[in-house]
Amino acid sequence: MNPPTNSRSMADEMLDALFRLLGVWRVELVLLGVPTGLGLWLYVRLGMFPAVVAVVAFVTTVLCVGPLRRFLGRLVHRASVRRHLEAAFHALPGVLSEKRPRIVKITRTAFGDRVDLVLWRGTSIDDLVKAEGVLAASLGVRQVRCMANPAKRNLVSLTITRHDPFDESALRFPLLDVKRTSLWEAVPVGVNEEGEIVTLSLPERNVLLGGEPGAGKSVALSLLVVAAALDPEVDLWLFDGKVVELSAWSACARVFVGHDVQLAITALEELTAEMDDRYDELLRRNLRKVTRAEGLRLHIVVIDELALYVAGTDKKSAQRFAELLRGLVTRGRAAGIIVLAATQKPSTDIVPSTLRDLFGFRWALRCATRDASDTVLGAGWASEGFSASNLNSARRGVGLLLHEGGVPVQLRTFHLTDEHVRVLVARAHELRGH
Ligand SMILES: Nc1ncnc2c1ncn2[C@@H]1O[C@H](COP(=O)(O)OP(=O)(O)OP(=O)(O)O)[C@@H](O)[C@H]1O
Ligand SMILES: [Mg+2]
Repeated sequence: MNPPTNSRSMADEMLDALFRLLGVWRVELVLLGVPTGLGLWLYVRLGMFPAVVAVVAFVTTVLCVGPLRRFLGRLVHRASVRRHLEAAFHALPGVLSEKRPRIVKITRTAFGDRVDLVLWRGTSIDDLVKAEGVLAASLGVRQVRCMANPAKRNLVSLTITRHDPFDESALRFPLLDVKRTSLWEAVPVGVNEEGEIVTLSLPERNVLLGGEPGAGKSVALSLLVVAAALDPEVDLWLFDGKVVELSAWSACARVFVGHDVQLAITALEELTAEMDDRYDELLRRNLRKVTRAEGLRLHIVVIDELALYVAGTDKKSAQRFAELLRGLVTRGRAAGIIVLAATQKPSTDIVPSTLRDLFGFRWALRCATRDASDTVLGAGWASEGFSASNLNSARRGVGLLLHEGGVPVQLRTFHLTDEHVRVLVARAHELRGH
């Protein structure tokens, strides 16, 4: 036993703890310190009354100036998030409590916060993903999700969700308030976990949607149909295996086909011929692809219940349809043809992989299993933490969209009631001068 050393180390520890405490509460201390310092200085110089009046006037002025008040509110909020998150990291089991991620930026979102982190050497996103549940419990929030920057795996974006962004019974579609659209511009399709609108840019893209029955595929498709129908420069080719999902749009469509596979084949043959003419036209104009400036019409092919056309009982017709569709997806991009197809499970026994794998954008609404989710999004996403089987089945329209960013985004689609559809169909009809 060595009493002097012990008392020294105790003093050191107390000093360390004090400095840690000062560091943790630094923003609040500075904010309190300014008026307190001002008050003390005036008290020494002028006495009690002027000091109190000056401090009250100072604090009132600061609180009355909206932008300043909001700025201070943000500072205090960020300091509080940082403090709680650092304490939560400290309490984590394993390597992360020793090598705590460095917080570089905190941004308030509509439903919580987004925190940018840098990981230390020896730790990885996998450690953080495993700790998501513990972090959410420590912070007392609904959910914590981590996503690594695909280019730099040491940079992580942590989304803290305090309120359920998908709680609203139905989200209003912004295009309800728009007179006309341009399909060259991105289409708003839903809201992500941070309450931000997610958009989908369709030119030169093809989208495959999948998900269990009732997950919201037809609703998601109909949002894209609205965007196309409200652009009179777009031709709609609609194929609806169930007939009733897209029939409201038949009057705005160039072609509407129900469950008659032969008619569907004839329509695809017509479009293929048009695609060939389009390439001749591009050659004449010395262009390599359709662009907005050239004023050539876009064609949107929407297929709900793809399985009916490519996996029907008549094998020959199914093969012919799949072959024509494959041709459109393979060669249609530069010719201005966009294919959107939905089916419950695009497994190879239903959708040939030579067709399925051509779709660049994937949208998995809720799926029953991880395998089913991987079938829609592509192999390997479930093991990276992106499985549509984890989505809440009670929330219709929630899904994972794999598009521009290269990483699936969780979103809930906007919803359209029958009355909304009636209003939008009438608007599109008028625009198209039918
Ligand atoms: N974003 C949403 N918000 C609220 N309700 C939704 C949403 N999306 C879908 N729903 C509800 O879920 C129901 C089923 O949706 P939808 O018909 O699109 O499913 P589906 O995946 O096409 O099913 P199926 O495979 O049987 O055709 C809809 O009638 C609608 O009431
Ligand atoms: Mg459907």
